[in-house]
Amino acid sequence: MCGIVGYIGKKEKKTFLLNGLKELEYRGYDSAGIAVLHQNEINYFKAAGKLENLVNKTKDFSSNGFGLGIAHTRWATHGKPTEINAHPHWGAFSLVIHNGIIENYMEIKKELQEDGVEFVSQTDTEIIVHLFEKFIALDFEPHVAFEKTIQSLHGAYAILLISKVAPDTIFFAKNAVPLILGRNSESELFFGSSDAPLIGFAQEVSYLEDGTYGWASEKEIALFHHDEKIKPNFKPLNSSKIYAQKDGYRFFMEKEIYEQSSVVSETLMGRIKDDVVFLEELKDYDFNTIDEIKICACGTSYHAALTASYLIERLAKIRCSVEIASEFRYKEPLLDTKTLFLVISQSGETADTLEALKMAKKAGLKTLSVCNVDNSSIVRVSDATILTRAGIEKGVASTKAFATQVLTLWLLALYVAKAKNTLEEAHYEAEIKALRAIPTVLKVDERVHEKLHRLSKRYLHGHGFFFIGRDIFFPLALEGALKLKEISYLHAEGYPSGEMKHGPIALADSNLFTIALMPRTLLYEKTKSNVEELSARDATILAISPQEFELADDFIKTKVYTHPMCEFFEMMVITQLLALEVSIRLGNDVDMPRNLAKSVTVE
Ligand code: G6P
Repeated sequence: MCGIVGYIGKKEKKTFLLNGLKELEYRGYDSAGIAVLHQNEINYFKAAGKLENLVNKTKDFSSNGFGLGIAHTRWATHGKPTEINAHPHWGAFSLVIHNGIIENYMEIKKELQEDGVEFVSQTDTEIIVHLFEKFIALDFEPHVAFEKTIQSLHGAYAILLISKVAPDTIFFAKNAVPLILGRNSESELFFGSSDAPLIGFAQEVSYLEDGTYGWASEKEIALFHHDEKIKPNFKPLNSSKIYAQKDGYRFFMEKEIYEQSSVVSETLMGRIKDDVVFLEELKDYDFNTIDEIKICACGTSYHAALTASYLIERLAKIRCSVEIASEFRYKEPLLDTKTLFLVISQSGETADTLEALKMAKKAGLKTLSVCNVDNSSIVRVSDATILTRAGIEKGVASTKAFATQVLTLWLLALYVAKAKNTLEEAHYEAEIKALRAIPTVLKVDERVHEKLHRLSKRYLHGHGFFFIGRDIFFPLALEGALKLKEISYLHAEGYPSGEMKHGPIALADSNLFTIALMPRTLLYEKTKSNVEELSARDATILAISPQEFELADDFIKTKVYTHPMCEFFEMMVITQLLALEVSIRLGNDVDMPRNLAKSVTVE
């Protein structure tokens, strides 16, 4: 995803900006650019591809003395990853960088074109700078021109704009995309998409709220929330990189659980247009000629695959099978060219998944990957990739990568459903509504976290955990159990609720802990009967449900939703937090559990 850096002050601007972009490389990008406004002169440089290309282009440029700088790494959404489409975009005397998507850019572009403005790029961003200059031409003060520009935009954005009409000022705006403002005692000001570029430079930072905009210079920082003037809420920024990277959380895993809400907004960005799922990556696939989707993956990605198999069959009405990659490779599978072969991988480097993909390709199957790391081996081998956009995941136990995988696969199921026209309009609309709700569903409720912290002390022993659920809550049970065993080293299994009576119930006694996923929207009564069977045999039950359940020893009450996927994501967060709290109490290394690796490149 795009990255933004900005600077006001006397230091060499190029160095700060390029180093800042380097810190944001993890977000993924395909072109980059910087602009410096110094002594009323603007210099800008852009390059497609890696940052190195931009570094080469700027090697003879330096800019000491007071000035402004803005820098950007672009992850293409509107228009190809070319130098022309790279940011900053310029007008006659101003430049802009932007992360996000301006939903109404076509309307604005048309109006500006009618006024005679010529566009050089295919981006939505370019309208911002022309609109600003149009208001300047209409004799508005720069501040008012910027305010009017922002008020005209709909969508998600973090914006920095500089202009010769206000040579000491950076104009900024933020909505649904991160933007941080920093300062220090030397009156330097900084902007960044995350803390990372600011560490070691800014002493205090303000995490801007959605709907804020303003302007900053050495003399003043003016900040508005909608129309009302507000004070920026500055907090000290720890100068230790590791601490700051954790944003004050105790572990990366904890941070990654908390950031799921904003991360999935990035997964969704630009992928729902006019209430229809739009996946540009799939434009060459004809789903009417595909008989089956076969998914291959390992670990957590396998659990996302299992979840997807329910969604794909239910929504897109295509047969869907799922295989563990290491099993698939050696079973001499029968492959049919009418099957779409889909692999799921966070790292894009898992050896078994990669080899399974190569086998399918060799057998002439069309291939697709859902992956978090662009340019990874799996991305390079598959015919097309839908990136999950989770950002770097540091905790070995995967959390946000899983959330973004499931969300991406749900988007895929809906994309295919539309292509094959398998859903009634009202059903499709309800799916889109639920999709849009997921960022809110994923916001961690601190009270629930606190309750899980308290409950966790009762779950540090015993002879095993069973996470149970039905339908999509079965793969979630598998994932919940995997999280717990990965970081607590306690034995945990995921099981379909209805299957417990076929063997595992023999283990039931008060030292068997059952984590029961009991959603209201899917098979509640049936799951409840299964949990009652366990309770009758004295198993200790932790029920997670929006409905009170009398037989529960412990109970986590979830919100009432009408869509199962909302319940799925809320329960996912709860199982992640439970594993985290148990692991912390046991004194384990949460982020780097024993014997595990984040990326497994051996078979
Ligand atoms: C390792 C990781 C897991 C991950 C699995 C598959 O075991 O520890 O968290 O789910 O590999 O990795 P992938 O990158 O292909 O999703």
